[in-house]
Amino acid sequence: MTANRRRAGSTLIHNATNVDRHFLQVAEWIASAKYNPSCSMLLSLRCLFASMLLMFAVVARAQTDSATTSTPDAPKASPAAPRISFNYVHVDGSYIALTFDDGPDKKLTPQLLDLLTEHHIKATFFVIGQNAAEYPDIVARAAREGHEIGNHSWSHPNLAKLSDESVRRQLRQTDDVIKQATGKRPILMRPPYGNLSPRQKQWVHDEFGYQIVLWDVDPLDWKRPGPSVVCNRIVRETRPGSIVLSHDIHPGTIVAMHDTLNQLEAKGFKFVTVSELIAMAKPETPAPATVRSQASPSPAAAKPPPKTAAALPTPAG
Ligand code: NI
Repeated sequence: MTANRRRAGSTLIHNATNVDRHFLQVAEWIASAKYNPSCSMLLSLRCLFASMLLMFAVVARAQTDSATTSTPDAPKASPAAPRISFNYVHVDGSYIALTFDDGPDKKLTPQLLDLLTEHHIKATFFVIGQNAAEYPDIVARAAREGHEIGNHSWSHPNLAKLSDESVRRQLRQTDDVIKQATGKRPILMRPPYGNLSPRQKQWVHDEFGYQIVLWDVDPLDWKRPGPSVVCNRIVRETRPGSIVLSHDIHPGTIVAMHDTLNQLEAKGFKFVTVSELIAMAKPETPAPATVRSQASPSPAAAKPPPKTAAALPTPAG
């Protein structure tokens, strides 16, 4: 019995760290005491004490191991496929992108450009090819002043209902006009009404290199609800990372922008182009559903799912 205990104690001492080594030495000393029948009670107590010390040593060793062994990496999420379509962008900081569709308008777009210049704000214009061909100087001015120009088709059809060849023609003609006006091809497109099938998005992205840009803030300014309503809707709904949709072809929208820009600035938003916003994208780490809403530091991350194109009122975009 003594020899077995000694072997067991020696094995543990061999494996143990310095932390528990002295406890094991005490245990071995007790276990190795000579058997004395007249002291059987004392020996039993020694055996019990030795067992407790051995257990303590094993536990201490386990704790030391867990503290010193490097924790294995948590399973990494498999990298998601690169996004080609954006309703908003998950970013660090209060960055947003204002976008203006369906222009340029001969009178209103220059007014808007003046206002943006006053505020030192860069925006993104999704132009219709026909209009850009008619007012290339306005497109050129917008680009020169630091705004981004995106492709919004040639004549604003519902691209989801067109053949691939017709879609290609709509985009190619507009791409060419933007290139002629600004000296460079656009890298963004927005489908009219937000309508483009997943298959179309993929081939348009592959063929033209475009990011497909939708939106998460829509003041429905095309319904002409009045400048204060447009302003209030935008200011209320905009979050960090938002892509704000409005139209530089409605007089009320241009009027609304005076208060809108002031109020967004007062809330601390910083204005970038859509491409700049996309370049700031941070991964949205999937979190357990139970903690997601508490763990999300950014309001943008806690937003409800973006509206689908099908849910949008027809004339939007
Ligand atoms: Ni449009």
